[in-house]
Amino acid sequence: MDTQERLIETYRKKAKYYDVISRLYPAPGYPQRTQRLQAVRALRLRPGDTVVDMACGTGLNFRLLEKVVGPGGRIIGVDLTDAMLARAQDRIKTNGWSNVSLVQADAAGFDFPAGINAILSTYAMTQVPECAEVIAHGAQALAGGGRWVVLDLKVPGRTPGWLAQLGTATVRPFAAIDQWIMRRPWEAIRAAMQAELADPAWTELFGGTAFLAAGSRRPDK
Ligand SMILES: C[S@@+](CC[C@H](N)C(=O)[O-])C[C@H]1O[C@@H](n2cnc3c(N)ncnc32)[C@H](O)[C@@H]1O
Repeated sequence: MDTQERLIETYRKKAKYYDVISRLYPAPGYPQRTQRLQAVRALRLRPGDTVVDMACGTGLNFRLLEKVVGPGGRIIGVDLTDAMLARAQDRIKTNGWSNVSLVQADAAGFDFPAGINAILSTYAMTQVPECAEVIAHGAQALAGGGRWVVLDLKVPGRTPGWLAQLGTATVRPFAAIDQWIMRRPWEAIRAAMQAELADPAWTELFGGTAFLAAGSRRPDK
């Protein structure tokens, strides 16, 4: 089984309980909701806007996004795992949202619709090996002034490798945790945001255990 198949298998198993388990993610009491709110605020959405939620999972951001784009706006949720999208579909149905659509796709191959106002990705992009390319593709699809925002976990700056491994092994959903630490994917995300976007901003959250990376479409593009 390759890494992606393993990841899908893991999320298939998690999908049913993801919403409950994620409240304890990455640790009980972790301010995940506050971080999601910060990320959505950083999108600077307005009523009527179209936003892509990349690797949306079960759609935990949808309510927050709905609040700002309103019924005249559009939310496009993209995810690799069918079972996570099935939960997202349940959420859409339960809430009667008619402006949310779902696409099953690998972020790496996703063809972002042109002229979208914003792209959000929460707690997922560091799991995507091609994260820099995804950021570049997304940036090209943004409308003038459009925003790209990534929220995800990272290892705090001065943490020794063994401690990082111990701390994150319990919370990461797939076995390749040591690779995740070694790869330091948040650095690739930071570099790509800086390269592709105007006004790139990088904020470390909760003692450097998470980051919020944001930027706008370059006016020259
Ligand atoms: C920890 S969950 C986060 C879900 C959601 N964004 C949230 O904030 O609750 C990670 C999600 O990323 C998805 N994912 C991982 N790699 C992906 C890829 N290459 N393309 C699309 N989705 C991916 C998984 O299927 C899973 O639903």
